[in-house]
Amino acid sequence: MSKNAYCMLVAAITACGGLLFGYDVGVISGALLFLGPKFGLSDHAQEVVTSAVLVGSFIGALGAGWFTRRFGGRVANILAGGIFIIGSLASARSDSAQVLALSRLLVGLGIGITSVAAPLYVAEISPPHRRGLMITLFQLFITIGILASYIIDLAVAPHWRLMFGIGALPGIVLAVGMWMMPSSPRWLAGRGRIVEAQSVLDRTLPLEEAKRAMHDIQADLESQKSAPQWWQVYRSHPVTATGAQLQGWPAFRSRAARRALFITASLAIFQQFIGINSIIYYAPKIFQKAGFVDNSSALWATIVVGFVNVIATFITIGMVDRVGRRALLVWGLTGMIASLAILGFAFMSFDAAQVAQTIPAAVANASGDVLSPRDLPHTQEGMLTLAWLTLLCIVAYIACFAFSMGPLVWVLIGEMFPLQARGSGNAIATGANYFANFMVGATFLTMLSKFGAANTFLLFASIAVLNLLFVLFFLPETAGRSLEEIERQLGEATPAEA
Ligand code: BGC
Repeated sequence: MSKNAYCMLVAAITACGGLLFGYDVGVISGALLFLGPKFGLSDHAQEVVTSAVLVGSFIGALGAGWFTRRFGGRVANILAGGIFIIGSLASARSDSAQVLALSRLLVGLGIGITSVAAPLYVAEISPPHRRGLMITLFQLFITIGILASYIIDLAVAPHWRLMFGIGALPGIVLAVGMWMMPSSPRWLAGRGRIVEAQSVLDRTLPLEEAKRAMHDIQADLESQKSAPQWWQVYRSHPVTATGAQLQGWPAFRSRAARRALFITASLAIFQQFIGINSIIYYAPKIFQKAGFVDNSSALWATIVVGFVNVIATFITIGMVDRVGRRALLVWGLTGMIASLAILGFAFMSFDAAQVAQTIPAAVANASGDVLSPRDLPHTQEGMLTLAWLTLLCIVAYIACFAFSMGPLVWVLIGEMFPLQARGSGNAIATGANYFANFMVGATFLTMLSKFGAANTFLLFASIAVLNLLFVLFFLPETAGRSLEEIERQLGEATPAEA
């Protein structure tokens, strides 16, 4: 097998972690339709069942930092696959809301671990010029997982146990596939297993480059030997420019590690606060509000969204290592701002028209169910325009997300941290992403009923503006540089100079 094909195989197997993540994000919306009545779940109980996964992911992501440092990305991914299989089967067999919530927590633990361990493992094993592409496969598999869950929900309904059970399949591929993969060269070298590390590098890089890479890794490890212990660091040791001279948590006293943490955690939070999962989770409801009144056209419109999400990720696969991270982010965010703003103003003008026409009906409908088709714009023509405009804007928004903030947040989290801060930094940034995801998921419906769709979308648009400014002012370009070069770059230069 050629070196390139081998690299892609490693990346594809690891990216099955993304498949777990995506499948689970999507599957719950369909399953809830049947679970709710079966277990007599109140709205609150449904929220608990839904968010148990995010709580599990948050805990899993934080724990994964330590685990990956200690046992390596390969073992962490095998563990994640195993936990996910048990959680999926337990969800499928659960006979009460409590057991279901606990099983979903377990599923979340698996997702949290793999979303730290997979990009990290891939970043450590890929050649620099293909790293962006290889980590982007992780996001591609997230989007495929979401689309697959939408389609499977539609195909196997009302058999919710089957919907959950099918989730075990990508878990099996991840656990068994990773079992057959090598450990990452950086992890092996850190354990003194130099010969094995060199042989992994030889399988992924041209021989000269493999030698150079080994040299870089060893130099990095060498500089850690003289590292101060944490008590020395906190007492009097001067803070050095690279994280390599510090170990574990004190690595965050280095400029490179702190900047990496600031940039990646902020982007991870922005990724959720620009509203992506409000669309992913609630697309059918938004479409109903906009005028695709019956269930089936709303579900079909949702499948269109899932499909566009997959296709647009290919743009990043083709371009991330050529045009760079910054350019893709700037284009994508600009597109997202435009589509959210148009969506906001469209809902605003239709809401205004509707209020003028239907004040008595609005009063009668003050149940807080703002997404009910009852409060749609009341003229046929208006409904049609809003429905298609909404579909168009949401498709544009998803496409722009899918080639920018979607994949690139995971790429940057995987590649920006210095070796010593890599496990912990990755875990904190990923944990922040899940926490923000949880917050948006838990508040979106309330925001819609309190502030209305128009203001909610305009709020997301304003956050996207801040996100764009953040990228322009704080994010250095990392494309084509080795992990060691990125560490030096973050330690030395200001973003503007980098
Ligand atoms: C985000 C997920 C989101 C998905 C949508 C990922 O990058 O982290 O929260 O559901 O993209 O494709």
